[in-house]
Amino acid sequence: MNTYLEDYTQSLQDTEKFWLQEAEKIDWFERPERGLVQHENGLFTWFDGGKMNTSYLALDYQVENGRADQQALIYDSPVTQTQYSLTYRQLRDKVAHFAGGLKKLGLRKGDTAIIYMPMVPEAAVAILACARLGVIHSVVFGGFAAHELAIRIDDAEPKVLLTASGGIEVSRKVRYEPIVEAALEEANHKVNTVVMLERPHIPLEQKNQNYISWKEVSECPEAATYEILDATDPLYILYTSGTTGKPKGIVRDNGGHAVALKYSMKTIYGVDPGDVYWAASDIGWVVGHSYIIYGPLIQGCTSIMFEGKPIKTPDPSTFWRIMSQYKVKSFFTAPTAFRAIRKEDPTGSFKAAYPTPELRYIFLAGERCDVSTLNWLRELTQVPVLDHWWQTESGWPMMANMAGYGLFPIKEGSAGKRVPSFDIRILDEEGNEVPHGEEGSVAIKYPLPPSCLPTLWKNDQRFKDSYLSRYPGYYLAGDGGYRDEEGYFYITGRIDDVINVAGHRLSTSEMEEVVASHWGVAECAVIGVANSLKGQIPVAFVVLKEGTSISSEDLEKELILMVRNTVGAVASFKRVSVAKRLPKTRSGKILRKIMRYIADGKSFNMPSTIEDPVVLDEIRENMHINKIGIAFDPTGL
Ligand code: COA
Ligand code: AMP
Repeated sequence: MNTYLEDYTQSLQDTEKFWLQEAEKIDWFERPERGLVQHENGLFTWFDGGKMNTSYLALDYQVENGRADQQALIYDSPVTQTQYSLTYRQLRDKVAHFAGGLKKLGLRKGDTAIIYMPMVPEAAVAILACARLGVIHSVVFGGFAAHELAIRIDDAEPKVLLTASGGIEVSRKVRYEPIVEAALEEANHKVNTVVMLERPHIPLEQKNQNYISWKEVSECPEAATYEILDATDPLYILYTSGTTGKPKGIVRDNGGHAVALKYSMKTIYGVDPGDVYWAASDIGWVVGHSYIIYGPLIQGCTSIMFEGKPIKTPDPSTFWRIMSQYKVKSFFTAPTAFRAIRKEDPTGSFKAAYPTPELRYIFLAGERCDVSTLNWLRELTQVPVLDHWWQTESGWPMMANMAGYGLFPIKEGSAGKRVPSFDIRILDEEGNEVPHGEEGSVAIKYPLPPSCLPTLWKNDQRFKDSYLSRYPGYYLAGDGGYRDEEGYFYITGRIDDVINVAGHRLSTSEMEEVVASHWGVAECAVIGVANSLKGQIPVAFVVLKEGTSISSEDLEKELILMVRNTVGAVASFKRVSVAKRLPKTRSGKILRKIMRYIADGKSFNMPSTIEDPVVLDEIRENMHINKIGIAFDPTGL
């Protein structure tokens, strides 16, 4: 095997050759003739001419190549006290029959389907069945409210909505039925068919007669075979928060995605076919797509689907129990999960009952990993704890400490080095590279490697405007960061209005829209403030309309409810502060970034464009009085 440096260099010198070689490692029905092709619209696709099917690679190929009786998916659900597994053959058969049922409902290649499901194996079956037929799936995270589901329905225009009676949050039952009904009512696009899984723990209350039962679809007597798809056919759309209230529909292709994931399983995560891999995330996020479902199965691993939380289900030992019980080799989650465990079990005493001799690596992503948590985890588990960086847009890591090449020495606070084929640079305002050690904007030479979004769903222009226009020739990642002399990169946080709350990517603009719609609010700013457990939490600063009489407590309660009902509980929106004025530039732009710096106790240069610097003192005092910001966070980050 080549060294990291050899592969990194080759991947930039002859990118197409590098990836065509990697493409040999998956089973094509017809091999691609080309690596990268530029189209009339200026955008690129990977592996044109290649014919394949991702669901085939994840299931049938494994069954036909000696893995039929190996566990493909282990379901561990402490919230329902359920544990069982499906072999590759069992999973393939379930998927084929479910796909047969979807076909009977009239679904065909190129149609779209929304999947709004909790962490149950049926969700994996639905995802893989769509992929089998070439039906483009779009999974919506269960923690989003009806409005978020509705805007995704309107953008994706699905023929069918696959859903369940609900999810379980520790012990709270979250009924999906009213959310689904409200979303269908709100959406302009009319969904023909709703397929409903009634979970034994959450019986349906309404039993809408129009729902098709999950059983009817899954027990379809005809098993559908896989469609022969083009490598460039979309596999899925995954909506992610951008800087406006309207989420961006990230498109994932079939071919580039499969090739990149296959490459990543060994080179980044260090796992071989037959190994047990666990990503403790949710199918609603990109990590769930890539590393609960597609990546591990394409690699012939055993993947774990966990329905629970790192704590309280039932206690902070859950992660250790699962790693020990199923002999997990490589593990992946967001740092916040370990901060939660550490908070409840600072000495790590719950680990003692669960030896994990098979565990080789722990990977963290989704937000910056604070050094203290990283060290705590490393000492407790005695395995390398590896921070790595990626986005929904890429679908796989772009910076990492790559296990398959032999690890580099770990540098605390760094997300690793550039993954081969990602030509990442740190740029200043003018688009020039900054010297090593200096902070700037993280940008990647365009065109991007396989699996990265070819475009946004039905919106090439927004793709170009959001990512390609800021620095010609580069993709704008939206993060700030720097690199050191030895090629290690450090991510310092978003440079836009996107925040990361407990590893969940959210838009403050979306929350602002909701807050601004309150009858008493004249103007507002929602900012992400550093938090020792969740990384960041949203805080709203509101200026009331003249003559409004509402107590701060009532206003806070009303706004919390509004955001919860519109965006969803996952926003963790719990703090509102009434301000006299908001700091602005002379042209009226609210200085949210400066407000964030004040809350996080960071120094900043006074912007020359500020309208009235005194407002910053007022906001500082407001934060002090209302105990907002890192100075009031008991442990700090
Ligand atoms: N369906 C419905 N509601 C959900 C939900 C879902 N799938 N996921 C979260 N929520 C709700 C929670 O119940 C909570 O509601 P509450 O305000 O009534 O308590 C709210 O959304 C916030 O959830 P969360 O941010 O998960 O906070 P928490 O306090 O319940 O748990 C952690 C904190 C750290 C344990 C949890 O966030 C966690 O495990 N994070 C790891 C995140 C992760 O895996 N990210 C994926 C990227 S790798
Ligand atoms: P998502 O698209 O939900 O995966 O979120 C992507 C964003 O999460 C990135 O743009 C970063 O802001 C943040 N992120 C992901 N991984 C890391 C990391 N290792 N360190 C710091 N931030 C990260």
